[in-house]
Amino acid sequence: LSPGEFQTRLFAWFDQHGRHNLPWQAPRTPYRVWVSEIMLQQTQVTTVMDYFNRFMSRFPTLEALAHAPQDEVLHLWTGLGYYARARNLHKAAQVALSEHGGELPLESVEALMALPGIGRSTAGAIIAQSCGERAVILDGNVKRSLTRLHAVPGWPSQPSVERKLWALADYYTPNARLADYTQAMMDFGATLCKRGQPACNVCPFSDVCLALSRDEVQRYPESKPK
Ligand code: ADE
Repeated sequence: LSPGEFQTRLFAWFDQHGRHNLPWQAPRTPYRVWVSEIMLQQTQVTTVMDYFNRFMSRFPTLEALAHAPQDEVLHLWTGLGYYARARNLHKAAQVALSEHGGELPLESVEALMALPGIGRSTAGAIIAQSCGERAVILDGNVKRSLTRLHAVPGWPSQPSVERKLWALADYYTPNARLADYTQAMMDFGATLCKRGQPACNVCPFSDVCLALSRDEVQRYPESKPK
């Protein structure tokens, strides 16, 4: 599938079935997108929504977060788990305040990745959604969809597989509508190309999915042999 055809089909699906009313989508500021992406790293959208709204009420700005006592940040995280995320978020807010004038460094993926808790995919997600600039994402949802579409063998922690998936993710990424594209890829993986029971019968890519043509959708992504 050409990138243009891929994008056309994905956007048609997203306009009808994607999530368009998430709390961090309006207003879509870098601070709000960043906090949401950290919360969403290991937690589902439906759980994150309430935590996100409480967090924003208490810490409406990056500066408010930076100045908060750590125990208060952790308290608002209670129940979300993976508390290193909250400690890194708090620390990153302080670094942004002291080194970047209270703003997130959005000039590049690398600049964002220098902050604690922000990996390459999260950095791409923040830039694409809050600046609308071209940045590539490759989270677990996107990896699963791409490994199925292309029947990519091997497991994603292998460097060669990782390289191949980043190249595919880059290939399909458009030059416009970056915020929608990013959300669409995440929604597609989370709600249609799910790990268990993917909805191949209503998938806009069913005619070109290599895994489906081999009746091997459940095989991908492969897991590391023990
Ligand atoms: N997982 C990570 N980021 C997400 C987002 N913006 N929407 C849905 N799931 C996500």
